[in-house]
Amino acid sequence: MEKTVQLIYEGKTYEFPLITGSEGEKAIDIGSLRKQTGLVTLDPGYANTGSCLSAITFMDGEKGILRYRGIPIEELAEKSSFVETSFLLINGHLPSREELKNFSVMLNDQSLVHEDMKVFFQNFPRASHPMGTLSSMVTALRSFYPELQNVEEELNMTVTRLLSKVRTMATMSYKFTRGHTIVYPRPDLSYCANFLNMMFNSPVKPYVIDDDVKKALEVFWILHADHEQNCSTSTVRMVGSGQANFYASISAGMSALWGPLHGGANQAVIEMLAQLHREKGSVKQIVARAKDKNDPFRLMGFGHRVYKTYDPRAKIIKVLGDKLLDKLAVSDPLLDLAVELEAVALSDDYFIDHNLYPNVDFYSGIVLRAIGIPTNMFTVMFAIGRLPGWIAQWKEGFDDPKGKLNRPRQIYTGNNEMHYIPIDQR
Ligand code: SDX
Repeated sequence: MEKTVQLIYEGKTYEFPLITGSEGEKAIDIGSLRKQTGLVTLDPGYANTGSCLSAITFMDGEKGILRYRGIPIEELAEKSSFVETSFLLINGHLPSREELKNFSVMLNDQSLVHEDMKVFFQNFPRASHPMGTLSSMVTALRSFYPELQNVEEELNMTVTRLLSKVRTMATMSYKFTRGHTIVYPRPDLSYCANFLNMMFNSPVKPYVIDDDVKKALEVFWILHADHEQNCSTSTVRMVGSGQANFYASISAGMSALWGPLHGGANQAVIEMLAQLHREKGSVKQIVARAKDKNDPFRLMGFGHRVYKTYDPRAKIIKVLGDKLLDKLAVSDPLLDLAVELEAVALSDDYFIDHNLYPNVDFYSGIVLRAIGIPTNMFTVMFAIGRLPGWIAQWKEGFDDPKGKLNRPRQIYTGNNEMHYIPIDQR
């Protein structure tokens, strides 16, 4: 017997199906609400609204749980690789040895960017933000590759092509803005090692790939790989629901990620800490500003729409940053500041009462700085990590036989009907 939820409205009782997910989450299926009652729901920011059924990622915001296809993020960060985790997210299972080999070969074969694209990079203003460059190049890829066909192998080729080329395009953007020669991908290097080599190798200063740096990058990207229906993923699904092409859907997601409330927070955190350090500001003062309702300042890297406890990814990234700095025998004054800021905030009633904890972006900049990534590329690093998640979510929407165009409703609060007034009477 299907469970239902009753709604009593204007003396009538309406029944709606109660949906229960595989982890016990419950939702009212209001698909027939307007038809039955004439009502729509209103939920600014969609804090209480589920947009889809999804089998990809499970989050429990109260317990700080994050699993990709059922596997806890802690196990994947410790035991998996970014390529293997990408396969898991996109295909729904861990790859066999053969599948992983074939996937890696496809990623290698697709790692070059069409030589004609160099002109695009050469003519982008040097001061462009790398997120703007990358999202433009992703959209441009459609011009170089045929419209996505509906056949399975074309789909696999298309998503693998982007997963591989996004690395190359990000590093090309970095090299071009510095007027340096680009570094081509190498067939003998793994996904992450190739990225590091394309970023930092130079004809006059060969880059030596440190295994701990490569491992830190693997973990960083695994931790960013998916996060259910966040702002950018919902954008990818929104654009995909209109059946715009795959590249346009992903490029739209990249633009959504760019904002400082979302993926742009990792850059905003480091800029906040760097200013605090430069001005020898007070941590207590920063926390006081974050609490002041008259001050628009927010403590960047703190708070989350879903996590009302410590973001499990932040815990891992903090340890990663400590270990990497220790291994490289460098200290980062911004890490010391971040640790102090966290301690002050987490002991403050405002943050405790509002369930505000460090999120994935609070410590991620420390790891990226240790790797040598420039601050304005931090969100690009987030985007590369999130790409397998966007692909998996886009594909789940694309493959959904019951898929519909995403088109929310509204409640109108503007003028009632009025008539045109000729300009000489206004
Ligand atoms: C990511 O959704 C995802 O999964 C995203 C992400 C992913 O992997 O895709 O996890 C990645 O985007 C992480 C979040 C990165 N953004 C930041 O670090 C920016 C700073 N954080 C905030 O702006 C905020 O916490 C949000 C935007 C992340 C979430 O805010 P909500 O859920 O919309 O909550 P809200 O803005 O309504 O705030 C609720 C209360 C408010 O106070 P009251 O008016 O109720 O008294 O908490 C306060 C807010 O003022 N608050 C903060 C705060 N975050 C929330 N106060 C000070 N500093 C903050 N950072």
